[in-house]
Amino acid sequence: MSQKCKLGMIGLGVMGQNFALNLADKGFAVAGFDVDKGKVNSFRDAGKGKPIATAQTMDEFLSKLSSPKVVMMLVPAGAPVDAVLKELVPKLSPGDIVIDGGNSYYKDTSVRFQNLAKKGIYFFGVGVSGGEEGARHGPSLMPGGNKEAYPQIASLLEAASAKVNGDPCVAYLGPGCAGHFVKMVHNGIEYALMELIAESYDLMKRGLGFDDESIETVFKDWNKSELKGYLVEITSRIFGVIDPNTHKRLIDEILAVAKQKGTGMWTSQAAGEMQVPIPTIDTAVSRRDLTGFVEERILASTALRRKIHRFEGDKKLFLDNLKKAFHTSMIISYAQGMALLKVASEKMGFDLDLETVARIWRGGCIIRSDFLERIRKAFKQNPTLPNILLDSDIDQTIFENEEGLRYIVSKGVEMGISIPSFMASISYLDGYRSEWLPANLIQAERDYFGAHTYERIDEKGTFHTNWEQSEIV
Ligand code: 6PG
Repeated sequence: MSQKCKLGMIGLGVMGQNFALNLADKGFAVAGFDVDKGKVNSFRDAGKGKPIATAQTMDEFLSKLSSPKVVMMLVPAGAPVDAVLKELVPKLSPGDIVIDGGNSYYKDTSVRFQNLAKKGIYFFGVGVSGGEEGARHGPSLMPGGNKEAYPQIASLLEAASAKVNGDPCVAYLGPGCAGHFVKMVHNGIEYALMELIAESYDLMKRGLGFDDESIETVFKDWNKSELKGYLVEITSRIFGVIDPNTHKRLIDEILAVAKQKGTGMWTSQAAGEMQVPIPTIDTAVSRRDLTGFVEERILASTALRRKIHRFEGDKKLFLDNLKKAFHTSMIISYAQGMALLKVASEKMGFDLDLETVARIWRGGCIIRSDFLERIRKAFKQNPTLPNILLDSDIDQTIFENEEGLRYIVSKGVEMGISIPSFMASISYLDGYRSEWLPANLIQAERDYFGAHTYERIDEKGTFHTNWEQSEIV
């Protein structure tokens, strides 16, 4: 191919290759480079007949790009990103653009953004969601970086992105690491929704004694309702898949230990640092950790054994309430993520438009669901909404469904089935709407043992009491 390429892709693993092929399908000439020659060859084969070019060296790769150069990296987060930058950046000129499309830690993105800005190079941290399929046919894209330079990459990203009613699932989100921060929170919500689905599965499997076929039917039914969303949809499909080796349902052949690459944990850490409560997401992260303690759990299951009491009541009523419990907790998961984005936006100067965030999450990404349109509407109506639970329309849905969550949590506890994310959700809801919480006692204790002082409700200022010497009733 003689024409110069509009974008160069470094990292031709599945995500990089698919994203590059997606752009080539949209008519953009793309050059691909990877240190693994096998991946370069596979890209060349997959891109036959499309406007793509490949290169054997970094210099050859860069020579194939039009100016200013736009280089996108889709390599694993962490050291590999810095290794690429180390080789790439000295060969770039002021005005060139580097896009990191991986799940990079936002603090790393911030540092890289600043380091490249010193050289006049624009660095964009772009969250890419939707997995392999999304990268190939339309992901949700969350770009952050220099606002003035964004128009130079906007048409590329818009072409590659998923569309909802013709509306591209991408928009400039904010400066520096804003895009990667938003993607991280997306993943935190992803962890929460996945855990809630897993807990629903457990309640049906061990609580109701349902077989896989019945569970498949329930998730299919959910996906035809207001719970419709990508994760519920793939869950219903998973339950129908047969293992070619055993000819049984594959789900029952999979080791029940959940892995993670860290984005959910980073969300919890960031929320902790910014003092924003996101307990449903936190418990989803710690639950994945608990699945790893297999041997200890086997030991404990004998030592601390308590039978799971199967549910003996009205199964239809249980299932109705389970659906309501999931509905309420799903809303609460989104609420916690959005609330974190709101505070982070203020603290980090992202100036995020949360309506835009909800809009670009409606298609392409892993947490896409019909409910995101309602979140979008809520922020459109009130862009400064502190929490989506305060939107009157969403509040009405919570009101109609929350008793189901309360029912399921109490049944789960009675049966001895661990459902931490459902429990965290109802507790978050009850705490958030409580005008009084028992923190006066915490303040009194802090002052008692550490003279940390307290404030009073009847007088301004800070106060300390010598609790040991005080008069007692
Ligand atoms: C997405 C996914 C994607 C990836 C996660 C999985 O939005 O497309 O979130 O980024 O699947 O990294 O994360 P864990 O390995 O931590 O579950």
